[in-house]
Amino acid sequence: MIALGCDHGGYPLMKEVIKYLDEAKIEYKNFGTYSEDSCDYPVFAKAVAGAIVNGECEKGILICGTGIGISIAANKVKGVRAALCHDCFSAKATRQHNDANILAMGARVVGAGLAVEIVKNFLETPFSNEERHIRRINMIED
Ligand code: RB5
Repeated sequence: MIALGCDHGGYPLMKEVIKYLDEAKIEYKNFGTYSEDSCDYPVFAKAVAGAIVNGECEKGILICGTGIGISIAANKVKGVRAALCHDCFSAKATRQHNDANILAMGARVVGAGLAVEIVKNFLETPFSNEERHIRRINMIED
């Protein structure tokens, strides 16, 4: 199950991501927001982060205007590793090396076509499970 969250700035791109998830029959839980009315990104970052750390969802996707505020907010929650990615290489590498559990993107930064490719790379790439990466991830948590 994928947890979704965005603010008003991220909403237009989130609609495109949802279109892809529906087509690909990937299950998700949408924590909002549900319109372009102005709202506060930490609310949605915290809802998605909470769903990850309580085990309700396996991964998350967060979108705001830049992806910056919403990723900063999510990364305040212990156990969350939110990666801001605007290219496919980073989306793949952050899964392999950081075992990132949330993908963050900026709707005002990246177009829908690329964003969907980034989502695919993020969701389809497994963690490498290599000792050095596990060690480094554990050092983040300590
Ligand atoms: C909202 O205007 C914008 O500040 C927000 O979406 C995000 O970019 C913050 O980092």
